Amino acid sequence: MRILFLGDIVGPPGVDLVRTALPGLRAREEIDCVVANAENASAGSGMTPRTYRQLRQAGIDLVTMGDHIYKKLEIVSVLEEDAHICKPANFPPEAPGRRFVLMQLASGVSVAAFCLLGRTYMRPVDCPFKAADAVLAELADKAKIIVVDIHAEATADKYLLAHHLKGRVTAVLGTHTHVPTADEHIMPGGTAFQCDVGMCGPYDSILGRRIDRVLFTTTTFVPSAFDVATGDPRLAGAVVDVDEGTGQATAIRRIMVDDKAASHLPKP
Ligand SMILES: [Fe+2]
Ligand SMILES: [Fe+2]
Repeated sequence: MRILFLGDIVGPPGVDLVRTALPGLRAREEIDCVVANAENASAGSGMTPRTYRQLRQAGIDLVTMGDHIYKKLEIVSVLEEDAHICKPANFPPEAPGRRFVLMQLASGVSVAAFCLLGRTYMRPVDCPFKAADAVLAELADKAKIIVVDIHAEATADKYLLAHHLKGRVTAVLGTHTHVPTADEHIMPGGTAFQCDVGMCGPYDSILGRRIDRVLFTTTTFVPSAFDVATGDPRLAGAVVDVDEGTGQATAIRRIMVDDKAASHLPKP
């Protein structure tokens, strides 16, 4: 079976492209399950229930989040009630949301996903290694196919977590830094890894935000509104082939779809 993992969906450019391209991409790539990080989906920070419904209708099965999870507080009710979206597993138990998501595909195969926040150059959170161990203990008899979103700033944090989890999960895929890395590979034990799969959003930007605003504030120290940029929207992620019997990944490749490529996708 084949999983598509999409990196941080950023603002209307990211959401719109996912809505127009994902159905055709699912068909062309014969994707069985889509997992996506949507922490920046609404206005670049957080996600509203409306955007959540749009993304799910577009074909995203499971949603992970990151440090911006609660920026739109309306999402709390979705996090508490909906079984297809999770909070970072190393958030405190009091934080709204479930630690992992689990679904059964039409084929009968179960797929689980969870996300973890890194601790370098980020707000202090609980240990991601211990949180991952706790979630995996809970998933032991529930799913062989497990996708882990490591939402971290430092590349070393992501590599360390991947080595901690290799042979125990299907994939460890990086988000948060919004820039895709060219290091995708299969680790010993059949764990697919990529340090950052890239964002689904406007690439003519500073990590999704308007270049002029970020440059102005960076050079003058005068605050400005870091609105979401609009130019060159692209959908970025990783396609992971999985042996259903073992839950091990057999292949991983990067994927990037811009507006032009999206126009050539099949219309399902
Ligand atoms: Fe992000
Ligand atoms: Fe983030």
